[in-house]
Amino acid sequence: MGKVVVIDHPLVQHKLTHLRDEKTGTKQFRELVEELATLLAYEATRDLPLTDTTVQTPVGLAKTKTLAGKKLGIVPILRAGLGMVDGMMNLIPAAKVGHIGLYRDPQTLKPVDYYCKLPPDVQEREIIIVDPMLATGGSAVEAINIIKKAGCTNIKLVNLIAAPEGIEAVQAAHPDVDIFVAAVDEYLNDHGYIVPGLGDAGDRLFGTK
Ligand code: PRP
Ligand code: URA
Repeated sequence: MGKVVVIDHPLVQHKLTHLRDEKTGTKQFRELVEELATLLAYEATRDLPLTDTTVQTPVGLAKTKTLAGKKLGIVPILRAGLGMVDGMMNLIPAAKVGHIGLYRDPQTLKPVDYYCKLPPDVQEREIIIVDPMLATGGSAVEAINIIKKAGCTNIKLVNLIAAPEGIEAVQAAHPDVDIFVAAVDEYLNDHGYIVPGLGDAGDRLFGTK
C-alpha cells in the first residue's frame, strides 16, 4: 500500500491556516499555494537517488553527492493544480511539465476529461501529480489512470488538503502511489466539498467567484 505522508512542519501548518481563511484574497492565496507547493516538494523528493561525486572547494576536495539524474515530471490537474507548478519548479527546475484537464461534474461528482498533454518520454520519468484538493478522489484516480496508460510506472500525488474518502479511493485504485499532503480534514459535505477545507480552490486561485 502506498504511504500517506502528512507534512506537519510548522511553516506548512502556518501557511495552510492563512490559505483556509475566507478573508485571504486571490493574490495572497496564489502566493501561499506556491509556497506550500515548494515545501511539499521538499518532502516528496526526499527519496530521489543520489550518486557519489567530488567537488573542489576553496579549501579542499569534498567527497559529496549529487542527484543521480533521475528524470522528473510535474503534472498539474487543471485548473487548480496550475497554482502549484511554479512552487514545485523552484526546487526541481529541470522537471518537464505535463497537463491534465479534468473538472468535476457538479451533479455526479465524477471527473470529466477535457485535456491531456504529457511529456513524450513519460514512461521514463517519475511523475509528481499536483492538485490542491483531494476530495472524492475521482480526479486524482482518473489522472493516475491516464498517466499509467501512457506508460509511466512511478507516480506520486501531492495535495494540500485531503478528505479521508479521497485518500481511500486513491489507495484502493492505485496502491502503488504515495500521497503527500499538508492536512487530512474531517469529511466531505453533500456537495463533495472538503470540510472544513478551504472552499473551491480553482475559484479562489483565479478569482472566478
Ligand atoms: C477541484 C480540485 C480537484 C477536484 C477534487 O477541481 O482542484 O481537481 O476538484 O475533487 P475530487 O477529488 O472529488 O475529484 P474542480 O473539479 O473544481 O475543477 P477546477 O480546478 O477546474 O475548478
Ligand atoms: N474541490 C475543491 O476545490 N474544493 C473542495 O473542497 C472539493 C473539491
